[in-house]
Amino acid sequence: MDIVHISAECYPIAKVGGLADVVGALPKYQTASQISSKVIMPYYDKAFTQSNTFTAIYESQLQLGDTTYNFSILTLNENTLGFDIFFVNVPDLLFKDYVYSANDTERFLAFQIATLNWLLTLDKTPDILHCHDHHTGLIPFMTQECYDYTVFKHTPTILTIHNAQYQGWFPHDKVGLIPAFNFDHVGLLDWGGDINPLASAIKCAWRVTTVSPSYMEELKTSAKGLESLLSAESDKCVGILNGIDWKVWNPKTDPFIKANYDLRNVASGRLTNKNYLCERFNLDINKPLFGFIGRLVYEKGSDLFPDAFRQVLEKNEASILLLGSGNKEQEAQFEALKSEYKGSYNAFIGYDEKLSHVVYAGADFLLMPSRVEPCGLNQMYCLRYGTIPIVRRIGGLKDTITDISEDNGFGLCHNEASVSDIVGAVDRAMTLYKDQTKFKQIRKHIMKIDHSWDVSAKQYINLYQSIN
Ligand code: ADP
Ligand code: GLC
Repeated sequence: MDIVHISAECYPIAKVGGLADVVGALPKYQTASQISSKVIMPYYDKAFTQSNTFTAIYESQLQLGDTTYNFSILTLNENTLGFDIFFVNVPDLLFKDYVYSANDTERFLAFQIATLNWLLTLDKTPDILHCHDHHTGLIPFMTQECYDYTVFKHTPTILTIHNAQYQGWFPHDKVGLIPAFNFDHVGLLDWGGDINPLASAIKCAWRVTTVSPSYMEELKTSAKGLESLLSAESDKCVGILNGIDWKVWNPKTDPFIKANYDLRNVASGRLTNKNYLCERFNLDINKPLFGFIGRLVYEKGSDLFPDAFRQVLEKNEASILLLGSGNKEQEAQFEALKSEYKGSYNAFIGYDEKLSHVVYAGADFLLMPSRVEPCGLNQMYCLRYGTIPIVRRIGGLKDTITDISEDNGFGLCHNEASVSDIVGAVDRAMTLYKDQTKFKQIRKHIMKIDHSWDVSAKQYINLYQSIN
């Protein structure tokens, strides 16, 4: 079977969040299971592209309304990723040092059109086109409706929704950017009066997946306007829990952390990493360290932290380290908090892949009070590294973390995304930390929980087989 993943992000080439981690791992596991699985992504001006060499295997032009753009398809000269990858280079639109920006309608339409134009030239059509999020959401429509792509009319398409908060809306006056189709079917593009790529993909894709079963259920009642559509299309929808890349996220071999460890030397290994963090960020090694890693956006509940952190830090029993970027107002608040709680709070405002690994390896607890969490990978990285997750019961967090009060529980769960629930969960974590025997026992237990892609990759393969 020949699977083509089409995505805006892929680790280690370009990463904004978990989408990159998934697209950088799932094809690897599928390839290892003898399924031919390749990725097509935009060619950005990023560190990875600057430090690797590429060869153009196809050159052509594409039409976006009245404008003609040159594009080429590139391959990596030395590919050690574990799966095949192809890059769409539209120099005028995509070759930038960022992934997302203001003119994403044009950028990602060009990406999708170039992708299909190139696939048309191949001897064999793919068995499955697997589209990720709204950036590739017009592909199911285009393959079904556009005259240029009738060859793909019977090629199954899958949409995976990583996050329904972002839908790629654009006004109908840009409909001319989409290659010609029977205008009687324009309704397949529309949702609520706009062209909505995510809604269009939900309508047109052969199957729709979300990245956890709970999120699939939640979307039926809370999906930023798409609730009724998802309920109507529920027969073709399924939630498949993400996995994590077991090789990249392995404390025994991770090259980014300060001391490698496994179950046999977890205490000393983690202490070295905690020591590094405490020295670098001027934090007290003797206090339990609470971390946060993530995008500073409403969905992640990070706006609740300034108040919650103050309440926790006033007790002078814990240290907090935040690693994140996003909302500028929040960034400023987290910077300002530094002078209030010197020695027990610090923040790194920005994106730092290496530092994130050390936080997973050195923090005692990780906070995830998300309002929306389709899956969440951080909590699974925590488990692998022996950091106890503190999560809100929502989406994938609900599917992966069991509270310590329940049978075989190992995490701290709270119901609401609120300051009081966060502080309450931290209090419970403090109690657990004081019981070092139990704390260490849980730490070892969570490191043995297997969230590698092995299980979920098979579920995708079953899904592919069911429609091929
Ligand atoms: P989302 O995709 O919604 O941001 P996930 O939990 O699925 O959330 O994935 C987030 C990924 O991005 C994880 O790999 C996490 O370690 C990483 N990450 C988020 N923010 C940062 C940051 N500021 N620096 C380094 N890594 C980050
Ligand atoms: C999205 C979601 C996150 C999920 C990730 C990978 O960015 O916000 O919860 O883990 O995609 O699927």
